[in-house]
Amino acid sequence: MMKRAQEKGLASLHVHNIRNWATSKHLTTDDAPYGGGQGMVMKCEPVFAAVEALKTPESRVILMTPAGRPFKQQIAQEYACRNQHLILLCGHYEGIDQRVIDQLVDDELSIGDYVLTNGAIAAVVVTDAIVRLIPGVLGDEASAAEDSFSDGLLEFPQYTRPLEFRGWKVPDILLSGHHAEIAKWRHNMALEKTRKNRPDLLGE
Ligand code: ADE
Repeated sequence: MMKRAQEKGLASLHVHNIRNWATSKHLTTDDAPYGGGQGMVMKCEPVFAAVEALKTPESRVILMTPAGRPFKQQIAQEYACRNQHLILLCGHYEGIDQRVIDQLVDDELSIGDYVLTNGAIAAVVVTDAIVRLIPGVLGDEASAAEDSFSDGLLEFPQYTRPLEFRGWKVPDILLSGHHAEIAKWRHNMALEKTRKNRPDLLGE
C-alpha cells in the first residue's frame, strides 16, 4: 500500500537514523537518566539536530510513545487531510529527554496500552493508517468510508461466494436486493458486534 502511494506520487516515506546527527566520539544517542533509575534516555543534541535538519514550516513532529494520547481512526483522518509533512520520532523505550517533548514535539501518540521495544513499530502502524486515507491511495474510495470506526461502530459482517460453505449459508437478507433493509441489517449487526467486542465505543 505504501509502495503504491509512493509510485502514484501521493506520499513519500524517508527513514533517517538519528545516529547520523550524533557528534560525540562514540556517536551516542542515549545516556543514563538524571536522578537514577533503570535504562537509558535519548539525548537532546542528536534529536534536536535531526529534527531541525528535517523540519519544514508545514511539519508536525509526532513522538511515538506509550505515554502518548491513544491513536485513533479520527486522528489518522485528520493527519491524512491536513498535514503535508509528518516527522514521526521513534525512540527505544525507556524514554526521551523531556526537553525534546517540551520544545520540539507537537503531538505524542500511543498505539495501545502495551510497551514495544521500539517506537518504529508504532510509526509503521501510524503511517499505514494515515497513508491509506490519503485520497487516491485506496483503489476503491468507498472502502475507507465503510471501515470500522468511521461511523463510530465496528464493521458489519461481510460474505462472498460461495452461497453455502460446509452447510453454513449466507444470510438471506443479503440476497434480497432490498437495499434499505440490507443497510438496516448491517447497522444492527455492527451495533451487536460493537456491543460484544467494544462496549466502550457505545459508552456502555
Ligand atoms: N513505543 C513503545 N511502545 C509504544 C506504544 N505502545 N505506542 C507508541 N510508541 C511506542
